[in-house]
Amino acid sequence: MCGIVGYVGHRDAYPIIIKGLRRLEYRGYDSAGVALLDKNLKVYKKTGKVSDLEDFVKGLPMTGTIGMGHTRWATHGAPSDRNSHPHSSGDRKLTIIHNGIIENYGIIKETLLAKGHVFKSDTDTEVLIHLVEDILNETGVDLKEAVRIALNRVIGAYAIVIMSAEEPDLLIAARKGSPMVIGVGKGEYFVASDATPIVEYTKNVIYLNDNEIAYIQRNDLLIKNIDNTVQTPYIQELDLKLEMLEKGGYDHFMLKEIYEQSRSIRDCLRGRIYPEKGKVQLGGIKEYADKLKNVDRIIIVACGTSWHAGLVGEYLIEEYARVSVEVEYASEFRYRNPIISERDIVIAISQSGETADTMAALELAKEKGATIFGICNVVGASIPRITHAGVYTHAGPEIGVASTKAFTAQVTVLTLIGFYIAQLRGTLTKSKLIAYLTELDQIPELVEQTLKCNEEVKKIAAAFKDASNCLFLGRGSSFPVALEGALKLKEISYIHAEGYPAAEMKHGPIALIDAELPVVFIATKNSSYEKVISNIQEVKARGGRVLAIVTEGDTEVRNMADYSIEIPATDDAFVPLLATIPLQLLSYHIAVMRNCNVDQPRNLAKSVTVE
Ligand code: F6R
Repeated sequence: MCGIVGYVGHRDAYPIIIKGLRRLEYRGYDSAGVALLDKNLKVYKKTGKVSDLEDFVKGLPMTGTIGMGHTRWATHGAPSDRNSHPHSSGDRKLTIIHNGIIENYGIIKETLLAKGHVFKSDTDTEVLIHLVEDILNETGVDLKEAVRIALNRVIGAYAIVIMSAEEPDLLIAARKGSPMVIGVGKGEYFVASDATPIVEYTKNVIYLNDNEIAYIQRNDLLIKNIDNTVQTPYIQELDLKLEMLEKGGYDHFMLKEIYEQSRSIRDCLRGRIYPEKGKVQLGGIKEYADKLKNVDRIIIVACGTSWHAGLVGEYLIEEYARVSVEVEYASEFRYRNPIISERDIVIAISQSGETADTMAALELAKEKGATIFGICNVVGASIPRITHAGVYTHAGPEIGVASTKAFTAQVTVLTLIGFYIAQLRGTLTKSKLIAYLTELDQIPELVEQTLKCNEEVKKIAAAFKDASNCLFLGRGSSFPVALEGALKLKEISYIHAEGYPAAEMKHGPIALIDAELPVVFIATKNSSYEKVISNIQEVKARGGRVLAIVTEGDTEVRNMADYSIEIPATDDAFVPLLATIPLQLLSYHIAVMRNCNVDQPRNLAKSVTVE
């Protein structure tokens, strides 16, 4: 959700903070703010993008070698200058930035109001900094202790950074449920919601754990638990390259990330498949091989695009490993007293590894004794840290808010898990495994070939760009692809879109069909090909406009549809990896043609750390 960055050291803090905020802007872009400290504490904040903040502070004295910045995705209080962070408190010149939600802020605010505190915003965050001030005033403890006491009184999730004009060599950072990384430099430290603002300056990082507070000075770092016990920091080296965070000549991160998919799938497969031996190797879950061999049920929990990947996984794992799979929205699962036992394996899929509902669903499953796995992209994020085991997707940083390469990498990992379990349980013969893995090994190359459809997709996008609704239809594992195509279109172009199993169309959505409604079919040559052709005819008979994603060389559907895009022929198992790509490109071009902000669609944020 919100993005946090802080710096204390010997350099000017402002350029580091503003650059960091630009890198974190994918986390929220309702408003932005910065606080700097030299002789005075200066706080500037503004509704809008980070660039609006930059314009706002132009010409102002942005000096100070300690400071912090925030980019906001509003939860409490509408996006406005007064609700933007940092928030400050009264006479003690304290200031705070916060990502998360303080759930009991209402009751704390009432007590503080009764004591005469005056609030300038509607946020829960301002309440927390007033609470710290109140503790300072009433108990006479120092700032470090006041923050610790305050955090013991609040309920909720937070990543915070606090600064005080009275302590010009101190940043206090703390985390519970929202991520926080500390970069360790020479005579300088960085803090941020993720490592992207830090990697330019140092590769040495510490991931703060839940309930830890870091007291950061130019030449000293002390980490304590909220119960006041000193913690030993674990410094790790970042595996992140700066160029991964740049657009690299593309107009948008989304387009760059769509084009990266051949590379990202290859990275995901690297060292994990041995086609000539018919062998899959997944180091991250190999300790659980026995459990996987004998498992009766796998439950997948996820949200949004990751949930769609889970649905593809259900088809693959059930088909090849013959294990029953249930796919659940994490937000529903966590609140409905689900039946889980220690015999179950629960797999969470999450690009960010931070999604609050997915975390909570996983924690619930763990409490009930299930073995929990993660399929995550961000290394060291919260979900991989609480799971028993997992498989990273290795897609590299995904900056565009709409998920693209993370989806295909998640599907790749689920494919690998399906074949891995099949290998353990003997549900596929060696020769079949050799054939499947040989084909899987070719997928990066086939993705490359699929991407050549870009110019054709762009032309079709021009024909569809003024639609106000759109239907995406597919059968089997192409049904989740249809769902994903619809989600991509609605989130970045604001065209209402629905994904449906093609056969379900006649149970309702068929009423929508007229000459205005684009209907996108995934109609590749597979076991349900003939059935999909019938569905296309049903649409055509009612005057609908059809775009079909077809297998290379197919003339039957091509002749029937108004528009078609060819993808290379591949086994049914891998169609989702290829068929998704033209749909990503279609939404991308439509969004560009409609002048939408492709990388930062309205109201969205990249990682949803509130429920
Ligand atoms: C859509 C999109 C979202 C995410 C969802 C889960 O393009 O990106 O639907 O898939 O918010 O996020 P993660 O995968 O980080 O748990």
